[in-house]
Amino acid sequence: MSEHNKIDEHDNSLKVGSRGPTLMEDFHFREKMTHFDHERIPERVVHARGSGAHGYLQVYESMAEYTKAKFLQDPSVKIPVFVRFSTVVGFRGSADTVRDVRGFATKFYTEDGNFDLVGNNMPIFFIQDAIKFPDLVHAVKPEPHNEMPQASAAHDNFWDFISLMPESMHMIMWVLSDRALPRSYRMMEGFGVHTFRFINEQGKARFVKFHWKPTLGMHSLV
Ligand code: HEM
Repeated sequence: MSEHNKIDEHDNSLKVGSRGPTLMEDFHFREKMTHFDHERIPERVVHARGSGAHGYLQVYESMAEYTKAKFLQDPSVKIPVFVRFSTVVGFRGSADTVRDVRGFATKFYTEDGNFDLVGNNMPIFFIQDAIKFPDLVHAVKPEPHNEMPQASAAHDNFWDFISLMPESMHMIMWVLSDRALPRSYRMMEGFGVHTFRFINEQGKARFVKFHWKPTLGMHSLV
């Protein structure tokens, strides 16, 4: 059998008789329509604007006392990583220089499989309960009728939300600081934000946080 079947008729779909309905068994028609329906990948709701970098992780010293995770054991081993940096609010064509939180998503290609760790360049967050995330994002995103303002929290919807959410105040202090205008993705800190748990070979558990420190130091656009 050849690898490909030749399609000798691609301008008419299969019908039941000359005036009947289209048949679901016409796989060529169905695949053409499925392809057509998927030509545009919808933009991500948040973190649409991003840039990536390849690199590696090499531990300065073994973390065996704290964790049995294989990729954190041996200081002579380099683990390939990929990082996707992003802004949060702007659409995919928005500027990289806007005042916003920066996303910090790292994929570690370890011997045991891929380990994904999302972070931000600020160590805390706007909300304490995931159920409020759609409300936060609706408030910060542009007005639906005119798509303005882009990539900016400077509008009333957002401040309405913040004024009603006392737990967002700490994060707002960070968002209005120099950290929200990093000079480059190489000159900002990264934080796992959540608290994670390391478990060592003996089964002893400890809570940990992940913080990235830029070797170039922290610098802002202003
Ligand atoms: C409960 C609060 C949160 C919810 C519901 C939430 C939800 C989401 C969603 C829906 C996406 C888009 C995924 C996609 O379209 O591919 C996203 C992306 C992202 N989030 Fe969150 N998020 C929350 C909190 C956080 C926190 C606390 C951090 C920092 C640790 C964070 C960091 C990121 C990053 C870095 C991305 C982009 C990932 C990438 O570049 O691939 N988010 N989040």
